Amino acid sequence: MNAMHDDDFDPEDVGVNTSTQPDIQTVISRRMLLAAGAAGAVAAIAAPSTAQAQAGGRAVSTLKFKDVKHGMDDKIHVAEGYRADVLIRWGDPIAKDAPDFVPGKVDAAAQEKQFGYNCDFLAYQPLPYGSRSSSRGLLCSNHEYTNNELMWPGIPVRNNGDKGLTKEQVEHDMSAHGLSVVEVRKSGGKWSYVKDSPYNRRLSMRGQVFRVAGPAAGHARLKTKADPTGTQVIGTLNNCAGGFTPWGTVLTGEENFNGYFRGDPKKTPEAANYARYGVQPFRGAPWGVHVDRFDMDKEPNEPNRFGYVCEYDPYDPKSTPVKRTSIGRIKHEGAMTAVSADGRVALYTGDDERFEYVYKFVTKGKFDPSRRERNMNLLDEGTLYAARFNEDGTCTWLPLVHGQGPLTAANGFNSQADVCIETRRAADLVGATPMDRPEGIAISPKTGKVYVCLTYNERRKPANDASARERANPANPRAENKWGQIVEISPPVTRGGRADHGALTSRWGFFIVAGNPKDPKTQAQYHPATTDDGWFQAPDNITFDPKGRAWITTDGMDNFGNDMADGLYGADTTGPGRALSKHLFRTPVGAEMTGPAFTPDGRTVFVSVQHPGEGDKMTFEKPATRWPDFKPDTPPRPSVVAITKLDGGEVGS
Ligand code: FEO
Ligand code: CA
Ligand code: CA
Repeated sequence: MNAMHDDDFDPEDVGVNTSTQPDIQTVISRRMLLAAGAAGAVAAIAAPSTAQAQAGGRAVSTLKFKDVKHGMDDKIHVAEGYRADVLIRWGDPIAKDAPDFVPGKVDAAAQEKQFGYNCDFLAYQPLPYGSRSSSRGLLCSNHEYTNNELMWPGIPVRNNGDKGLTKEQVEHDMSAHGLSVVEVRKSGGKWSYVKDSPYNRRLSMRGQVFRVAGPAAGHARLKTKADPTGTQVIGTLNNCAGGFTPWGTVLTGEENFNGYFRGDPKKTPEAANYARYGVQPFRGAPWGVHVDRFDMDKEPNEPNRFGYVCEYDPYDPKSTPVKRTSIGRIKHEGAMTAVSADGRVALYTGDDERFEYVYKFVTKGKFDPSRRERNMNLLDEGTLYAARFNEDGTCTWLPLVHGQGPLTAANGFNSQADVCIETRRAADLVGATPMDRPEGIAISPKTGKVYVCLTYNERRKPANDASARERANPANPRAENKWGQIVEISPPVTRGGRADHGALTSRWGFFIVAGNPKDPKTQAQYHPATTDDGWFQAPDNITFDPKGRAWITTDGMDNFGNDMADGLYGADTTGPGRALSKHLFRTPVGAEMTGPAFTPDGRTVFVSVQHPGEGDKMTFEKPATRWPDFKPDTPPRPSVVAITKLDGGEVGS
């Protein structure tokens, strides 16, 4: 979610991390940064990078396309030699009996059968299951949030006072949130979706029942009038990035769940918990006027039922999706898995807010490729960890286990359920490192290294600041960090050459320190051959292509005064072209670039153009763009775009 457009609502800046844990690593880094001086801070603490080693050398990227120019207008732009085709738009019908999209019409029942709003994370799951088909698959999409002022006429600019939505509008709004599964096919070099595929599905906020699993399932703190068992939740909220598992299920992260509830959090028994997550009655989310469970005065536990990683099986349209409480309750951005050397599964996830943490979960059981059913509940049992990034280049994984260290009844943790409900506070107590907004995380299929996008944190204080959580630390070294960075975590490698994701210690360094490298105040680090159009800021989502190259999307190229739209950037992570980022695709004004997903052959990358036309003063009647339809009566529509090469080759080749 791009939070920089609005003055009075910033969902990633509302929780409160009051942790003041003494942290020796921060003390050391403070001393070191003081010694290094502000200008030398990044260089002094960054792991030696190939970019530096190659300074002055020739750039040899495996990516051969010419950068798209930075800039901003009402259209999409893709590199020469490529095509970018709109595949599916908000409101497109995805069921046999689904009605066509009608601009401006309020119709929740129709929306239940149409593609949702603000597509974010994408997974491409080949069909049939177990194949590597790159011409037929399931496109699985998150629908993070909505822009009511662009959906319907007569809605005031978002967040500018009570929008006064009708009950019908609230119902439609809830249906536009959630997830979609849509069958897609490639024929004659062009992708299309199958309107009446039996796989197509909406898992909406309004209509889909989720089972709650793991340590917090059935806990009193999750019980409501509608669900006295605390095991069933209707809907999923604000799914941002996500991931997938080796057994073909899709994972989604419930992110800014805190902004959807009315009522007074201070009057609930969960006042401290809700304050830590920034749960408060924002004007932008008036569901509780019409739907009781979104009013904390009526249903005080409802906010405890969101903020989880969800797992669903796109291959079985009748399956019940699950909220995996084992992975903790935070503002999850992504959730990406890797099979560790010993067969256990690791899942990495970040909490997207200023000064929040990076986490991993390691399953107790092992992945069994021959028995899909047995893997289906692997994520319910295991150990959750929070990360501490040490100055010596190691990363310590701190277990969040009830009964261990400070996570005891004396601190209000009576069971693992409490740890899984108040995960932020648990991570505060064990001394995790406060980061510059952890967003997407991806794992290289070639090296097993883990890449964490830290999007930016303009509130980061200098290293000598009095606040332990806010001052610069080794992994977040820049005060007033307006640009973001990508941290590379290297798990130990076993003798067999496999990454040990279960290890309690990894190593870390920087992959890219973002910002304009020509501007010395950014202290940016890239391969020196990165062009004026190849650099980026505000990295958000990240994925790998089959060749092991990282692809990064941005959410805030225009932050802090740049006249630049968000886009998609590729970069080698190994070899002579390491950290040489290249700009493949650019979004229209107001949009955020999300969800890059490759087909197994690497010849297509799907991207989500999220919230085109969003911005101050933008309304249904007067949007900044009408992409992709460009019809006078039609608002901009968040859409998935398929990017392919004109000669049919691999993207990047
Ligand atoms: Fe939904 Fe963290 O962006
Ligand atoms: Ca973001
Ligand atoms: Ca994001």
